[in-house]
Parts: sequence; C-alpha cells; structure tokens
Amino acid sequence: MSTDSSLTSTSKGELVDSFGRRHTDLRVSVTDRCNLRCSYCMPLEAVFKPREELLTYEEITRAVAVATRLGIRTVRLTGGEPLVRAELDQLVRQLVTLPGLDEVALTTNGLLLAEQAERLARAGLARLNVSLDSLDAERFEQIARRPGLERVLEGLAVANRCGFRAIRINAVSIRGLTEVEIIPLARFCREQALHLRFIEFMPLDADDGWAEASVLSGDEVRQILVAAFGPLEPLHTEDAGQPAVDYRYADGSGLVGFINPVSQPFCDRCDRLRLTADGQFRNCLFSTTEWDARAILRGRGNDDDLARLLVDCVQTKRAAHGIGNLGFERPDRAMYQIGG
Ligand code: GTP
Ligand code: 5AD
Ligand code: SF4
Repeated sequence: MSTDSSLTSTSKGELVDSFGRRHTDLRVSVTDRCNLRCSYCMPLEAVFKPREELLTYEEITRAVAVATRLGIRTVRLTGGEPLVRAELDQLVRQLVTLPGLDEVALTTNGLLLAEQAERLARAGLARLNVSLDSLDAERFEQIARRPGLERVLEGLAVANRCGFRAIRINAVSIRGLTEVEIIPLARFCREQALHLRFIEFMPLDADDGWAEASVLSGDEVRQILVAAFGPLEPLHTEDAGQPAVDYRYADGSGLVGFINPVSQPFCDRCDRLRLTADGQFRNCLFSTTEWDARAILRGRGNDDDLARLLVDCVQTKRAAHGIGNLGFERPDRAMYQIGG
C-alpha cells in the first residue's frame, strides 16, 4: 500500500525519498546472461532466468514511460551483458521516443560492440561505458574466465567512429589483480581519448569472495597514476548524481575517474533506481527488498499502479549501503542479476 506522502510525491512528479534524494536515473537490466564470467560478478556455473520471466521490450518501455512521468530523465541499459539480448537497438529506438527522457546510455563488456555499435548509435544511444580490466590477453582471460580481449578492442575501435557523446572504460579495482593493469590501461585510454574509471570492488560477486582487504581503493590507484604521469587535477562535475570523482592529467591529455563506493560512499547524493531483467524495481544496488513491476505489467494493474509501486520503492530507500557496518547484509542477488 502506498502512503499519503507517496501519493504527494507522485502528484509532484518526483521520486523523492525520505532523505530528500530526488531520483532521476533508472538503470534497466535487459538480461542476466553474459558471454563472460568475470569472477567479481558471476559464478562460473551460472543459472539464468528462463526467457519468459524476462520483461519484453514493450514491458520495459511501459515501465520506463511511467518512471519518466515521475521524473526519471536518464536510462542506462545493463545486463548481464545487454548486447547478448537480440535486437537491443529496437529497445533503444522505443525508449528514445519517450517524452521527458533526456538520454539512453549503455554499459557493456564490449564483446559484441563491433557488430552492434553502428546500429545502436543510429537508434539514438547517446553514451557507452565499456568494462575492460586488462589489456593483456592472458590476464583478461584470467579475470573474465573466457577469452575476448581482441573483440573488445575491435568493438572499441568501431564504437569510436560512431559518434557517441562519450565512451568510458570501467575497470574494477581488486587488490593483487589490478595493480599491474593501472598504467597500461591509463596509457591506452589517454592515447585513445577514452575516459577511464577505476571502480572499487563491491561485495556483489556471486562467489562471495569479497573481503574489505580485497578492495584496491581509488586513492591507492590515484597514487600509482600520479607517480607515473604526474599530478592529477580534480574536475568539478556539473552532475551531482555522478558517482565518479574525475581528474584531469596535468599535461591536459585526458580524464581519469574513481568510483569509490567502499572507501568513500556516495549514497548521500544517490539519484538511482534499478529495474531488473525479471521486472523487479530496486532502490539500491544493495537492496534486500524488491518491488514486483512484472506482476503489474502482466496482471490487471494499470500505469497508476506501476507509479505507486515505484513511489513505494523510493520511500523505503535506506540512507546508505552500510558496507563495513556491523549487520551489513549482502543482497541475495549478485551483480549480473541486478545490473550494475
Ligand atoms: P555514468 O556515470 O553515467 O557514465 O555511468 P555509471 O558510472 O553510473 O555507470 P556504469 O554502469 O558504468 O557503472 C560503473 C560502476 O559504478 C559499476 O561498477 C556500477 O555498479 C557502479 N555504480 C553505478 N551506479 C552505482 C550506484 O548507484 N551505487 C554504487 N554503489 N555503485 C554504482
Ligand atoms: N564491484 C564493482 N564493480 C563491479 N562490476 C561488476 N561487478 C562488480 C563488483 N563486484 C562493474 C563492471 C561493469 C559494471 C556494470 O559493474 O565492471 O563495468
Ligand atoms: Fe545509491 Fe545504493 Fe549505490 Fe548507495 S549503494 S549510491 S544508495 S545505489
């Protein structure tokens, strides 16, 4: 049931939670499947949701349309790996026509980008984030537990010619694994004019191998970069909801960012909601509760019911993820089942 305050929130067209955070960004996972098996995200032997449990593109578009009515302005498509879902450009095409939606972006591992980048750009996809943890083929395979570096690099080269507003590279920072990758990744991204971001490893791996000691912090990565390339100048971002803290290399050649959810949580400025591939709204990466949009989409519920569901989801959002606190509870789902 929704509360009076949630109805007020609906009528204002704003998804404001009890801490005053306004939500304008919806991350939509389109599949839990993936063509890699990165250890920080998936188990080696993954069991995927049956096809019929995943929302159709029409159902996703309807849910996003309702969210847009409530103030969502940007959508990011995630997975699993979103490009393994057939004809993703069709979904992009449907979403970009929604009134009020300013931007549709995508986070991908890049394996299928060479084939799809041009179609996605033509469909109206604005921005692209590509996960890339190593430029060494063997180490790439060690982390991803499948080969694929060549295809990612080819995908990046094609995407670079497609006119996306920005291409960002995501590297998850794991102690004992990432240290040797930092300088090669930074050098490559500077040469290719790609915006590199290091992301602290979060306790969302399927194998439950995360420990605080396994997080290589953004500050540690930054020190390694400064030692190699010289001073980094902090950049003042216009987008308060942006989790990354970006820096400019002092010689002017490029940007590098740090997403530090463990050492410097940014929950106080969180503007994000999530819709899983099987149609559940989540108010946080670390939510332990979900709100069943699929039941409304497939039952007799109307758009107002969906709107109320989303408002309820926002109302009960916790102040912060609580990693490191006594009593911190990992969600049942791992990253590939949530969408990143
Ligand atoms: P832009 O800033 O719009 O480029 O995208 P993004 O950084 O939100 O998207 P991306 O999917 O590339 O996410 C990069 C990393 O940041 C992933 O590891 C995400 O899980 C992490 N991340 C994104 N949003 C959140 C969030 O709300 N909370 C936390 N803790 N991590 C997040
Ligand atoms: N911690 C931090 N980032 C993660 N990603 C996947 N799993 C984790 C994790 N446990 C990142 C991927 C991808 C994005 C969607 O999430 O690198 O870029
Ligand atoms: Fe938002 Fe949850 Fe991420 Fe914190 S951990 S920034 S509340 S999604």
